[in-house]
Amino acid sequence: MKGLVLSGGKGTRLRPITHTSAKQLIPIANKPVLFYVLEHIKEAGINEVGIVVGETKREVMEAVGDGSKFGLKVTYIEQEAPLGLAHAVKISRDFLKNEDFVMFLGDNLVKDGIKSFVNEFKKEKPNSLILLARVPEPQRFGVAELSDGKIVRLVEKPQVPPSDLALVGVYLFDKNIFEAVENIKPSFRGELEITDAIQYLIDKGYHVKPHIIEGWWKDTGKLDDILEANRIMLSEIKGKVKGKVDGESKIVGEVVIEKGAEVIRSIIRGPAIIGEDSRIVDSYIGPFTSIYYQTEIIKSEVEHSVILEKVKLKGVVRLEDSLIGKAVTISKSPRRPKAFRLLVGDQSNIEIP
Ligand code: TTP
Repeated sequence: MKGLVLSGGKGTRLRPITHTSAKQLIPIANKPVLFYVLEHIKEAGINEVGIVVGETKREVMEAVGDGSKFGLKVTYIEQEAPLGLAHAVKISRDFLKNEDFVMFLGDNLVKDGIKSFVNEFKKEKPNSLILLARVPEPQRFGVAELSDGKIVRLVEKPQVPPSDLALVGVYLFDKNIFEAVENIKPSFRGELEITDAIQYLIDKGYHVKPHIIEGWWKDTGKLDDILEANRIMLSEIKGKVKGKVDGESKIVGEVVIEKGAEVIRSIIRGPAIIGEDSRIVDSYIGPFTSIYYQTEIIKSEVEHSVILEKVKLKGVVRLEDSLIGKAVTISKSPRRPKAFRLLVGDQSNIEIP
């Protein structure tokens, strides 16, 4: 069995971060989403993985390399444009050959991993195993309609959802999926939809088995989802201090302070993680905050946020519910007149009190 990880796409919902970076590499509790995906695939006993890459391929290849740090053998498959999940399957045929495979969307986080689903697929041998989860806003997802425990219909982002069962970004297929992706047509949004390919399997009488998952799962395509995923992953961490904390600082609850990080005259209330070589000076870091590497937070207060690498916050009181991209600087200025002075990228989103 092989793995197919989708790490291309446009990431329009996460602009401006995705103007310059791959959304699959956004760190959740300081680990890129894509790394959780690769770890889960390995844990399920799969060793060979194809990663579909698009515009951000350089960054993805640099982060994952040949896969050996995950114990995997990785092959990169270039998709010339994000033409749909089924298109990604179609262009991966040479890599997949006729083997069974698990397709995992590179921006999806499944907290308990996928081992049990892979085992279920191997044991019961349906043509496809589809994971479903109950969600409050099904219109944002591919949605399944079931009858007597069988899938009868799948619809992509329906305005009137037939159920609250969303397709989770993990799918298991045998070789018959290739017949499906060769026979479907692009949707109104110009993509080859995986929902249409699975619907083709159902209509042709192939066995498509649904499995409703109980565990926590998240598509991290939007800011709120990233903050929630970060909250869930941080709530599991165990505190550990590998960096330095001075005598005037206070660490409360589960806090990880990575190698080379420094905490000076500050309060950190966990769960929180401070990345390698970051400095927290005269500041407060509140629960559910992840600070990536080489970031400096001085005379500031941050809570329930994800701060990427090489950021500088000085005199910022106070930041909440935020995602701050790489190498951003936010600082309090003594200049007159007292005003916001911004140099902000396209499609940024700033809320002020
Ligand atoms: P989506 O989140 O559905 O699409 P997107 O990345 O274009 O994002 P947005 O809706 O914000 O514009 O994609 C799910 C995953 O699959 C994601 O990791 C990107 C990847 N993907 C591909 O690799 N190729 C594709 O053609 C598409 C559509 C997505």
